[in-house]
Amino acid sequence: MALLGSMLIIVQLSMVVLLGAAIFTPIASAAQALLPQAKPGCPEKCGNLTIPYPFGIGDGCYLRPEFNITCNQASTHPTYLTRTNVSITNFNFDEAELQIAHAAAYSCHDARGNKIPSNSGSDSVYYLMLPPLYTISETKNKLFVIGCETFAFLDFGIADPTLDGTNSIRGYSVAACDNLTSNNKVPYTCSGVGCTKSVLVAGLITFEIILSYLNRFGEQNRNKTKWFYKEYPCSYAFLVEDSKFTYAPNTSFQQLSNNKQLPVVINWEVGDDPCDVVGKSNNSSCKGNSKCVDRSIVPGKPGYICKCLDGYHGNPYLTDGCQDINQCETLSSNPCNNGTCHNLDGSYYCKCNSGYRNQDPKTCIPGTKNTALKISLGMLVNFILLAAIYI
Ligand SMILES: *[C@@H]1O[C@H](CO)[C@@H](O)[C@H](O)[C@H]1NC(C)=O
Ligand SMILES: *[C@@H]1O[C@H](CO)[C@@H](O)[C@H](O)[C@H]1NC(C)=O
Ligand SMILES: *[C@@H]1O[C@H](CO)[C@@H](O)[C@H](O)[C@H]1NC(C)=O
Ligand SMILES: *[C@@H]1O[C@H](CO)[C@@H](O)[C@H](O)[C@H]1NC(C)=O
Ligand SMILES: *[C@@H]1O[C@H](CO)[C@@H](O)[C@H](O)[C@H]1NC(C)=O
Ligand SMILES: *[C@@H]1O[C@H](CO)[C@@H](O)[C@H](O)[C@H]1NC(C)=O
Ligand SMILES: *[C@@H]1O[C@H](CO)[C@@H](O)[C@H](O)[C@H]1NC(C)=O
Ligand SMILES: *[C@@H]1O[C@H](CO)[C@@H](O)[C@H](O)[C@H]1NC(C)=O
Ligand SMILES: *[C@@H]1O[C@H](CO)[C@@H](O)[C@H](O)[C@H]1NC(C)=O
Repeated sequence: MALLGSMLIIVQLSMVVLLGAAIFTPIASAAQALLPQAKPGCPEKCGNLTIPYPFGIGDGCYLRPEFNITCNQASTHPTYLTRTNVSITNFNFDEAELQIAHAAAYSCHDARGNKIPSNSGSDSVYYLMLPPLYTISETKNKLFVIGCETFAFLDFGIADPTLDGTNSIRGYSVAACDNLTSNNKVPYTCSGVGCTKSVLVAGLITFEIILSYLNRFGEQNRNKTKWFYKEYPCSYAFLVEDSKFTYAPNTSFQQLSNNKQLPVVINWEVGDDPCDVVGKSNNSSCKGNSKCVDRSIVPGKPGYICKCLDGYHGNPYLTDGCQDINQCETLSSNPCNNGTCHNLDGSYYCKCNSGYRNQDPKTCIPGTKNTALKISLGMLVNFILLAAIYI
């Protein structure tokens, strides 16, 4: 019976291939054109960044107000998420992530530990607040507190699906220095001396850090010269995409003093329903040749994004956004051993060279393609199978 079944499958596959060959004539081998990412009639780019729908610039160009983009050509990173005014530096569209640039909190001191006033006065505060449909990636970012005698007050807003609001969680992180090496340098690794690195909790929608002075030495020593402030006058606290920042005492302090804008990875989802609900509604954001994929950016809370079906590529949120991939051209070498590749909508098949036959539509194996015989054999097998079932 199992043998009959597999024979049946093989035979029916060869029939499918025959039909495919008859209906779909090979598509002309034009290079895959770049597919549009923005909604038709809307700006494709802001600066050198392509803006993919559901994001968009201008009314009617974004799917929901949360995806409204402001393009301010005058600034260094001109693409802003309108709702929060954070600047987007990259779209990792396939993973439904954004990279933003956010300024580190910092605080600089004279040799006696007295804070040097800064221009804006709020430089020692880090504040990131995200609208619904976004969270700070807990897997891709880390929290760094860098400096000597540095006290960082932390206030996290964590989305709470049971409250339909946020939970505020507060804590502290400290980075301090003491006499460790003969030359008064902090260690080379982020070890808690001069630097602490922490992992994040999931579901973060606000992140606030207030930097201040730890004052381990008591009030009586407050205004006395401290060696570490000569060597490391500034403290920093920030979130950063882990792979984009490596702590090293001989470079990091200088690097941060030159550039405080650091990359942070943000998660997004297109809606906050699970796919089984989206699938039953007539309100899915996933357009033709695409599928709904569950994506929970807040633990315990559903959400979804869209992806093109296998064999298609492009933007799944646009009508006709997902287009066939011509695998005959895009796969690095001919995917058909002992055959020629023919593109199909969403797939391809291999037309076998003489002396070979299809084991399945994508594999040619040695053998003769006696198709007429196979079809009649297939019909016979079908008949026997049907007879076996119905008798
Ligand atoms: C985009 O522009 C920025 C600033 O001009 C530049 O640093 C960056 O390398 C550019 N990115 C690409 C992909 O060209
Ligand atoms: C979208 O952003 C533009 C500015 O870029 C603003 O004028 C408009 O009011 C925003 N729309 C919504 C719905 O927030
Ligand atoms: C957004 O931030 C930029 C600088 O980061 C600033 O120039 C601009 O005024 C801000 N816009 C709003 C509406 O806050
Ligand atoms: C720490 O280092 C300073 C300066 O090098 C030195 O004056 C002091 O005695 C050291 N303290 C200890 C406890 O080793
Ligand atoms: C710190 O000490 C210096 C020198 O002794 C003095 O001039 C200054 O006023 C002191 N600052 C404070 C805040 O006590
Ligand atoms: C920083 O320190 C490390 C570890 O000793 C060393 O390998 C590296 O060359 C130093 N880099 C600079 C720029 O001094
Ligand atoms: C589709 O959704 C709209 C509201 O968004 C509703 O009025 C309509 O009845 C729905 N149609 C079906 C077939 O569910
Ligand atoms: C349809 O989806 C939009 C967002 O994509 C949402 O705001 C709206 O409430 C949904 N409507 C229904 C009937 O589910
Ligand atoms: C058939 O395919 C196999 C595996 O790639 C290859 O080794 C062989 O040379 C091919 N035969 C012909 C005639 O192309």
